[in-house]
This record gives sequence, structure tokens and C-alpha cells, in this order.
Amino acid sequence: MVNIQPKTLFVGKKLIFLPSCHSTNDIANEIIQNKEFIDGTVILTDHQTAGKGQRGNVWESTLGENLLMSVILKTSFVKIERQFDLSIAVAISVFEALNDFGVSNLSIKWPNDIYINHKKIGGILIENSIVGQKMGNSIIGIGINIHQTKFENPRASSLTLESPKIPFNRNIIAEKTCEFLEQNLAFLKDGKTNLLKKKYYDNLFAINENRLFKISEGIMEGKITGVTENGQLKLISQNKEKYYNIKEIEYLFND
Ligand code: BTN
Repeated sequence: MVNIQPKTLFVGKKLIFLPSCHSTNDIANEIIQNKEFIDGTVILTDHQTAGKGQRGNVWESTLGENLLMSVILKTSFVKIERQFDLSIAVAISVFEALNDFGVSNLSIKWPNDIYINHKKIGGILIENSIVGQKMGNSIIGIGINIHQTKFENPRASSLTLESPKIPFNRNIIAEKTCEFLEQNLAFLKDGKTNLLKKKYYDNLFAINENRLFKISEGIMEGKITGVTENGQLKLISQNKEKYYNIKEIEYLFND
């Protein structure tokens, strides 16, 4: 059983815990479809049978070892063309929750993966519904690998593997994530997007570093300089500014 008591006004005040489900994002969607829901409702589970990752990938997680959470938000205050600001606010919130534990070498890899060293320990899947010309609701799916020690993907890892000295607690991570999310949503509502972007850039993996990327034309050397308003990655390569969507570019690692 999971019980969280975040110090918030709305995020996580209503909690639904399911020992097992197909996907907390899909449960969130069923809740939105079926009835009026409470803004900030959090769904937590120990196990997903069909966990969803970005780009149609499966999100694998060992039973009871990790954080699997979805937050349902009313997001009509976000302009459709500024959806990426919401993604930034969520990524920063997860970053700040983990940073509070004293994790070092933590970063956000564009667009919203959470990395320690050169390994992915967390991912975010945001599903927005649009009503007319406005955003309606958003389902914020967050997966953080906490205690899992075995991964098929060599680039995947967990908090415990990367920071073995820190005693991580899943409920506290969930509570802190809710608390930082509420703070950063308040910045977003107040139009403080420059502050959010600064926090994002301050912690963006490999920003201003020359490194290699794989693109459709082959291997390219470039330097990440930022992201555009609609969330494309901005790079300088051979003195030209270039823009990439998520499926168009892959980071290359040499470890
Ligand atoms: C990614 O591929 O990086 C995004 C992973 C998101 C996983 C989380 S786990 C909780 C929520 N429910 C899902 O089915 N997916 C998200």
C-alpha cells in the first residue's frame, strides 16, 4: 500500500493506488473520460502490465521497485502552441525532487528524460487533450527507476545503482515530485516561463558541449544551444543553426 501526504494545495491531495494496472496513464484517461475529476489527482501503482514510454515504446519496471505515477491536471491555462512549457515544468519538478535527495550528476536530457551520469533513470510521458483551440487536460506520466538493479537496455539505470549511498524512499520521491510540480505549475500559470527555461537550461544534459549525434544523413558533430518554443532541439553545427524533432536525432555516447 502506498500513502503519500504531499505538502501541496492540490497536486496529490487525491490519491488512487492500484497494486497492479495496465498503465497509470491509461487509468488516468479512463478517469477523465468517465467523470468529473479532481485537479491534481495522482495515480500510483506497484506494477504495470502495459507501461507506456515515449514514441510508442514499452516502459518496463520490476514489481514494487520503482515509482510509476500519473498526475491528472486541468491545463486550460497553457496555450496549445506553448505545450512544451508544461513539459519543461514537469521535467524540472522531477529533477528538483531528486536533487533534494542530494543526487549528483543529475541532468535533464532533452526533451524530458532524467539522467544520472550518462544513464537514463527516469522518463516522462505527457498526454494532452485539446478542446477546441485550448488545452483541456493533461496526463503527466512519470516513471523513476529507484531500486531496480537489472536492465536490458545498457543506457537504463536506477537511482540506487547510480547513487548507492542515498537511501531513496519511493513515497518521499512521490511527495516531493508533487510539491515541486505544484510550485512549477504556479510559475507556469504566472507566465514565469523565462524562470522555468533558465532552470531547464541550467540542468540540460550536454548543453554547450561539442558532441556527436546521429541524424538521418549520418553522424554529425554539434553543440546544443537550447530548445525552441515548440520544443525542437537547437544545435550549432558547422556554424549553422539547426533544429530537430525527437525522432530526427539521437545522442551518441562513447561509454
Ligand atoms: C519515456 O519513455 O521516457 C517515458 C516513460 C514514462 C513512464 C511512465 S510510468 C507511469 C506512467 N504510465 C505509463 O504507462 N507511462 C508513464
